Amino acid sequence: MNTLSQTVYEHSPVIDKDTLSVDDLVIDFALDNALFNRKYMRAVNGVSFTIKSGEALAVVGESGSGKSTCARALTRLYEPTSGNLSLNGKNINDKQNPIKQADLAKEIQMIFQDPFGSLNPVHTIRHHLYRPIKLHMPHLKGEAIENYMIQMLEKVGLTPAKQTADKYPHELSGGQRQRVAIARAVATGAKFILADEPISMLDVSIRLGILNLMSDMKDEGIGFLYITHDIATARYFAERTAVMYVGHMVEWGESDSVTQNPQHPYTQLLISAVPEVGKKRVEGSIKDKTQGQIPLWTPESIGCPFASRCPKATEKCSLEMPPVQQLGEDHFARCFAIG
Ligand SMILES: Nc1ncnc2c1ncn2[C@@H]1O[C@H](COP(=O)(O)OP(=O)(O)OP(=O)(O)O)[C@@H](O)[C@H]1O
Ligand SMILES: [Mg+2]
Repeated sequence: MNTLSQTVYEHSPVIDKDTLSVDDLVIDFALDNALFNRKYMRAVNGVSFTIKSGEALAVVGESGSGKSTCARALTRLYEPTSGNLSLNGKNINDKQNPIKQADLAKEIQMIFQDPFGSLNPVHTIRHHLYRPIKLHMPHLKGEAIENYMIQMLEKVGLTPAKQTADKYPHELSGGQRQRVAIARAVATGAKFILADEPISMLDVSIRLGILNLMSDMKDEGIGFLYITHDIATARYFAERTAVMYVGHMVEWGESDSVTQNPQHPYTQLLISAVPEVGKKRVEGSIKDKTQGQIPLWTPESIGCPFASRCPKATEKCSLEMPPVQQLGEDHFARCFAIG
């Protein structure tokens, strides 16, 4: 286990029970179809984290930083190039003794950015909920399925539930559709929800309602991977935050600490790029000093991925991966310029 994994695990006293763990995950994608000397990009590079039941980990970072790829690997949509993914201590990708896809789906569910795209327009809300309930709650029969479905719709605030069940997706608002997606995920009895930008397509005025609903689910013991571009909601919803850049976790730890006292130049850039209501553009902020290109990371790449854009970079940064530095009880970053 590398240093990064160790630091993450040391801060996760309960490893096996009710945990979803990613340890040193690497995912490469082919850049061409060559038979020999095929070229790859490294979309995820040595990512490690643990999510416990009833807790949320927010993953923030700009487009293409590998956030969704990590989530997709956890549902087995992508095969890891290397690394270990485990649910309650059991290896998700164990080829000798694989977890059945239906059993994995019972434990881990995804919620996507586009609540309309994830619902079939020709089916009612009842139809959308019946299928997962029948599949994952086989002990429920007939009227018990209907009652459980009504209970789920009420739980996510879609009342009157019976009327909602008879509606088609286009008859609901974006926020209501996202509530259906959450009800469907929770109805399976899932312990972990991977929410990939679940509020980014919703009107700002209803985002808080969805976040509060997810917080209620968290209080009931569901663990969340919350993928977002919005660092403010990361702090609002998640106990812990990980900042990703070009497939690497560059800073992570307790959300308050990471967002209020960011130490990695990339996290500082992300936070300085958030416009504040009532504040005008600040001249000379870090974003003005980061002119370089986002690199294409490959298995052969070396150094810190942010070196080409970092205002604090030295020659060493382009040659060596910075070690993990502990900045607080639960606050870590990889950067030579810290300390
Ligand atoms: N199936 C795939 N085949 C090839 N490349 C892929 C595939 N999926 C993702 N990638 C690449 O991997 C990198 C990471 O993509 P990913 O979707 O994980 O980013 P992200 O952080 O979720 O971005 P966004 O915030 O835009 O959703 C990107 O460069 C992307 O083009
Ligand atoms: Mg994404």
